[in-house]
Amino acid sequence: MNWLSDELASLKNRGLYRSLSTIGSAQTPRILKDGRELILLSSNNYLGLTTHPKVKKAALEAIEQYGTGAGGSRLTTGNTELYNSLEERIAKFKGAEDALVFSTGYMANTGTISSLMKNGDLILSDELNHASIIDGCRLSRAEVVVYPHRDVSFIEKALRVSKHSRKVIVTDGVFSMDGDIAPLPEIVELAEKYDAMVMVDDAHATGVLGKHNRGTPDYFNVSVDVNMGTLSKALASVGGYVSGSAELIDYLRNRARPFIYSTALPPPVVAAAKAAIDVIEEENPAKQLWQNIAMYKKGLAEMGFTVESETQIIPIMTGETENTIKAASELERLGVFAPGIRPPTVPEGKGRIRTSVMATHSECDIKEALYAISVIKEKYRL
Ligand SMILES: Cc1ncc(COP(=O)(O)O)c(C=O)c1O
Repeated sequence: MNWLSDELASLKNRGLYRSLSTIGSAQTPRILKDGRELILLSSNNYLGLTTHPKVKKAALEAIEQYGTGAGGSRLTTGNTELYNSLEERIAKFKGAEDALVFSTGYMANTGTISSLMKNGDLILSDELNHASIIDGCRLSRAEVVVYPHRDVSFIEKALRVSKHSRKVIVTDGVFSMDGDIAPLPEIVELAEKYDAMVMVDDAHATGVLGKHNRGTPDYFNVSVDVNMGTLSKALASVGGYVSGSAELIDYLRNRARPFIYSTALPPPVVAAAKAAIDVIEEENPAKQLWQNIAMYKKGLAEMGFTVESETQIIPIMTGETENTIKAASELERLGVFAPGIRPPTVPEGKGRIRTSVMATHSECDIKEALYAISVIKEKYRL
């Protein structure tokens, strides 16, 4: 097994070795890490709901009623009223006929794409789509055309010459490492014109974007065929879902292997996600999030950064891997935790510190974070 140590040594030499950071607190604006208090500036807990009293209470009550584990897959012994009611809640929130919950967002993407598309079909996929979409495309054995980021004219050209009977355009709604938004209205129009389906991964838009905080279709007021998302970000829990027509959901329930062959989610996380949707509708925490985003972006712009992100995910570009590692560790030394992101998560030479704002950040948290960023900007010429 010498090759294992060779591979690990090669990763280390190229600055691409990954190791775990350990946090000693909840995903709050200030966390404990290695005995120090740091500002957390990269969490996906965008609305701060992982510690919301109503969300925690729902999880605790679900443990009391249903215990800690599901004990089986949904199609065998694992299904309870809790799962049905979460799916109904998601469908209502998304304005869809039905929804299906998977154990993770990763599984929702791989399971959905690989069961919908087959050898002989065509998938058009944005070059910056999440890894779980890429893996779903690979598993499907369909022809995959990766289009340049948000390039609708490229999509049109590919659709115009396609002879495939089944076609899907798949895109992140909000791109996870860039924070920009997919051109959904144009994509939906092209899909209608060329009889293709549209699948959107709204992992980072759900709960955050749109008039009713339902995600990118809500933001643009369009509808898509397959609306995928995760319960693990603004919804403060874990799990993935797809919403859409009753027929689509029925099909996935019968064909999506990660759904069929995996144990149902633990009851507390299901209850927590459902409570989080209630809080989103009742308390609109996204309003504060957008105020915080505006303040943070203004601070960055005043420092001279060009901020292209349209959302809560705001990358600070660091370029090469060595610079990325150094800048992120200096930022941490200055009291702000936001990891450096290196290839293959982002393209070569496009390393970055992925910062993200939460609704629960205070003005003081944001000001302190901005100060630390101004120091690394100077030191690493960002
Ligand atoms: C765009 C996107 N899709 C899917 C996923 C996977 O979701 P999960 O973490 O629930 O598996 C992520 C999470 O990192 C993501 O950023």
